[in-house]
Amino acid sequence: MKFALVPAAGSGSRMGTSIPKQYAMLCGEPMIRHSIETLCGFSAISRVYVVLAENDVRWKEYDWSAFGDRLVALNCGGKTRLNSVMNGLRAMDAGDDDWVLVHDAARPCIDHESLQRLIEGTENEAIGGILALPVADTLKREDGKGRIAETVPRAKLWQAQTPQMFRKGRLLDALSKAPADQTDEAGAMEALGYSPRLILGDPGNFKVTYPGDMMLAEMILKGRMGK
Ligand code: CTP
Ligand code: MG
Repeated sequence: MKFALVPAAGSGSRMGTSIPKQYAMLCGEPMIRHSIETLCGFSAISRVYVVLAENDVRWKEYDWSAFGDRLVALNCGGKTRLNSVMNGLRAMDAGDDDWVLVHDAARPCIDHESLQRLIEGTENEAIGGILALPVADTLKREDGKGRIAETVPRAKLWQAQTPQMFRKGRLLDALSKAPADQTDEAGAMEALGYSPRLILGDPGNFKVTYPGDMMLAEMILKGRMGK
């Protein structure tokens, strides 16, 4: 079976707003609802688990009944994203060999085509895979004083996105051994010597991080609604 796990327990500090960004309104809905709709509406995924902060007060302000028992909210967020994911993996009802697609609530523009590519490209892999994009821009490393120290060759460089898809048991094991500065699931697997598959993502599936990102996400979502 395949499940989605959506970490949504962050505070959105880089957005600089008082409400956590997963609840910022985007096309008339809280941001988190867009990924939930896409994930719950994808039949290969049996259930979607959302990890909320323990002190979350906003989830209950909305009506989630349209998703029935395909959607389960867990109030077990942790201090870091990886803690939230680990707590969610422990709390969800899934077997060690089931696949888990971990997807940021802050990536509201995930689409079915990308999910299909990820699943097709990963389900026969021994370890797992992630959506990612080959780096298009020229990369510069800073010297620490605001000037360029060097140009970093972009060949073979990819930007990691989510979902990141791994088997539950092995992922939990990797995350519990991960160094504290690890930010994604794939990184924890790499630290154990595994090489997850890279699956071509979509530029629209970017992570809303700064205030200016909201407008771009709105444009992408509105463009799709108009189709
Ligand atoms: N997240 C989480 N638990 C945390 C921190 C983050 O579940 N302790 C979630 C966020 O809610 C988000 C995803 O992980 O959906 C990606 O994290 P990020 O974009 O960094 O969100 P925030 O941590 O909320 O933002 P910031 O880093 O700007 O504070
Ligand atoms: Mg963060």
